[in-house]
Amino acid sequence: MTKKCDLLITGCSEIVMGHTETARGADAGKYSTIEHCDIAVKNGIIYEIGRGLPYTAAETINGSGMTVMAGFVDSHTHLVFGGDRSEEFLMRLQGASYEEIAASGGGIKNTVMNTRMLSEEELFKSAEKRLLKAFSYGTTTMEVKSGYGLNTEDEIKMLRVAGRLKKKYPDTIVVTFMGPHEIPDGLTEEKYMDIVCEEMLPRVKEEGLAEFADIFTEKGVFGLTQTERYFRRAAELGFKLKIHADELFPLGGTELAVKHHAVSADHLMRITDSGISAICASGTIATILPGTSFFLMSEVYAPVRKLISGGAAVSLASDYNPGSNHGFNMQFVMNLAAMRLKMTMGEILNSVGVNAAAAVDRHDRGVISKGKKADLIMLDIPDHRHMLYTYAVNNVARVIKNGKTIVKNESHFDKM
Ligand code: NIG
Ligand code: FE
Repeated sequence: MTKKCDLLITGCSEIVMGHTETARGADAGKYSTIEHCDIAVKNGIIYEIGRGLPYTAAETINGSGMTVMAGFVDSHTHLVFGGDRSEEFLMRLQGASYEEIAASGGGIKNTVMNTRMLSEEELFKSAEKRLLKAFSYGTTTMEVKSGYGLNTEDEIKMLRVAGRLKKKYPDTIVVTFMGPHEIPDGLTEEKYMDIVCEEMLPRVKEEGLAEFADIFTEKGVFGLTQTERYFRRAAELGFKLKIHADELFPLGGTELAVKHHAVSADHLMRITDSGISAICASGTIATILPGTSFFLMSEVYAPVRKLISGGAAVSLASDYNPGSNHGFNMQFVMNLAAMRLKMTMGEILNSVGVNAAAAVDRHDRGVISKGKKADLIMLDIPDHRHMLYTYAVNNVARVIKNGKTIVKNESHFDKM
């Protein structure tokens, strides 16, 4: 008997399915594929997967020649910002370091100045443009942080921009408050943290502007004492926690994040053995951002092999931001994960899928599996191995969000 569904994708050359729950330990690299397969979608949810499905559908898409996988969950971005840092990038190409540029008043502070200058509307327009571009590269869920305001009004302005995107693109955006991203001029670390804890966090909570609270725990920025104070206050107000930890210096932010049950600890380029042991024995997701090492032209990449063999749940994200990584192509993040982090195919698929979804507490997506959200990408490649084999090319032909097509990339139109 034929059944009814909203969308039927027929005869996909290959469907790629990662592990259905957070993948770690023996499951870290688990995935499977089915060739010549159909997918039925109903109410935005994956309803059935199999060959020759007996459905009539409101919409049918021919999947032949296409490899289909879950849309990317980019669990770490700084999507909203004013201005750009192309000039600083050229200085870095001439040999200046990220730290030197920051110390001379550039870096995050440069973006803060440019972000403060723009209206909510102006910031919204530029952020939306970037988001639409990220969709076209296969991202279907994106975490977005504040952190370039560094005062209550401008942090709230950034969060409102993220909130407007969240409203306009349902089930897509996860909003994170990151007031403690840098110490504003004229204040000490402690004095600024007073404002963050006493003024910003309560206001953000009251107005329901963010779900997560994040902090840049780094030498010369926020130390462990102020980080702990922030975590306690944010948790008390009901925020879920994230941290930028052990990025440029091994300060021990990872251990602190584990102690406070942070949902994720991100960067970890310089994580110590004690940080590795702590995160491996915890529920905190280790979010690795290889694009940042690449864009900083650093040879230091996070020790992912140690993390995975120790049992950590690893996710991959872009860290898209104007300074340390001006790129949000998750396909390239996968290339870097293979070539620089030495991750296996299955580990990579799970790290941009279910584990990335877990890093933003969205357990309803990140994998093609019955009952999960129908966030799907159709890639113009014969099978999934070509994702790693091809680089710096957009293989995404079509993006489906909540069961509806949101992107058709023109260069692949002959396949539709
Ligand atoms: O995640 N590490 C701190 N924050 C960002 C960089 C932000 C910037 O340079 O504007 C990061 O790499
Ligand atoms: Fe970041």
